Amino acid sequence: MSFKLTIPNINKKLENILIIGSGGRENSLGWAIQKNESIKKIYLSPGNGGSEKIKKCIRINLDITEKKDLVKNLKSLDIDLVVIGPEIPLAAGLGDYLRKNDFDVFGPNQDGAKLEYSKSWAKEFMKNANIPTSKFWKIDSFEKAKKVIDSSKDPLVVKADGLASGKGVFIPKSKDECLQATKIIFDGKFGESGQVVVLEEKIEGPEVSIFALCDGEKYVLLPSAQDHKRLNENDEGPNTGGMGAYSPTPLVTPDLLEEIIKEIIKPTIDELRRKKIDYRGVLYFGLMITNSGPKVIEYNCRFGDPECQTIMPLLDKSFVKVLQLCAMGNLKGNEKIDISNKFSGCVIATSKGYPNEYKTGFQIKIGMIDSKDCQIFDSGTSLSENGKLLTDGGRVLSIVCQDKNFDMVFEKAYKNLKEIHFEGIYFRNDIGHQVRKNFSGEN
Ligand code: AMP
Ligand code: GLY
Repeated sequence: MSFKLTIPNINKKLENILIIGSGGRENSLGWAIQKNESIKKIYLSPGNGGSEKIKKCIRINLDITEKKDLVKNLKSLDIDLVVIGPEIPLAAGLGDYLRKNDFDVFGPNQDGAKLEYSKSWAKEFMKNANIPTSKFWKIDSFEKAKKVIDSSKDPLVVKADGLASGKGVFIPKSKDECLQATKIIFDGKFGESGQVVVLEEKIEGPEVSIFALCDGEKYVLLPSAQDHKRLNENDEGPNTGGMGAYSPTPLVTPDLLEEIIKEIIKPTIDELRRKKIDYRGVLYFGLMITNSGPKVIEYNCRFGDPECQTIMPLLDKSFVKVLQLCAMGNLKGNEKIDISNKFSGCVIATSKGYPNEYKTGFQIKIGMIDSKDCQIFDSGTSLSENGKLLTDGGRVLSIVCQDKNFDMVFEKAYKNLKEIHFEGIYFRNDIGHQVRKNFSGEN
């Protein structure tokens, strides 16, 4: 029999942080973490062209697949807390390995990451715990899928079971399109991620993202956010990783939040514990607010991007301390992160062609930015040998602003965006249209 003894050590050293990842999400985490005066160094591995513009942030290139070397390196850097940004290393068990080597890690073990890396597992999980979600079928052959699709009244949503960078979800308009999508997945477009298909009843309503920082038992909530997943204005075009966001969303009223906590957040944490999953990281609830109440569309085991960039500027310096307490399994549950009473909005600038093929390597020129309550978080950027900032990804950068109301937020964001230039720059002009009183379709 083994015993786990956690000795509360509330004042554990918190000076050197490692953030794994290379996106805007990780840069914004670094930006929020550096606010705490106890923090000396923040290593971003691998980071991107904008990481070192953030105070205390240093880029480093650690090979996370060479685990023994990684542990040696982290010891020599005297790392106090590891924050794992993206889902892929979490799904691969990086959290488990670092914990076994006595590091405090913010990010779940592989068993917790399964909520994101297997959609069918997450659906079964919700069914067992009576958590509201759409009806679903777990399918392992095209023939079985055809039977379900043919017998359903309306077209079903079709999803590859595993990780597919947000590209494995199809929302067909007809049964024929459902069959085509199922075939594409079973034909191997997403490799192993598509060995199982999840068919889902299509549900409707606005979507919101809720983030709970968990220590395995207790949790602290961050402000709600709303993402804009479609590429084009009026929420048209293909799904992307996210084209912009705003926070907090007025849609999540205190009453609705109570309902979400009671029906979704608490039952999720209880079910994790029932399954003996010690979840220490952020639980991301992608919700749809339907006529019959909030339902879970998906769980993620990491912060959303660009929701993270949008929310981070609203948090005070205690944020990193809460991350550490979660990693240690030591939350009391009454910790308060002071949240600014401002509103925050984020617009993403992408390379032409994203989310399909696009070219990179174009120089990014930034003019006169009104930097008060405004941040630029690089996502897909790199630095040339002579220090020029270049495009290096589909989503290139996010511009995030805070102000007294959403009209002021987006006025500033779009004014600043006019000062950012690179070949093929693309962004939506209607981010936050849901909350901008003076929105006319132009900026
Ligand atoms: P997911 O990766 O599972 O979050 O799906 C991506 C997007 O597809 C979601 O943000 C929704 O807009 C949409 N979606 C997913 N599942 C459903 C569903 N059952 N009904 C309607 N829309 C859905
Ligand atoms: N913004 C959606 C996501 O990160 O999955």
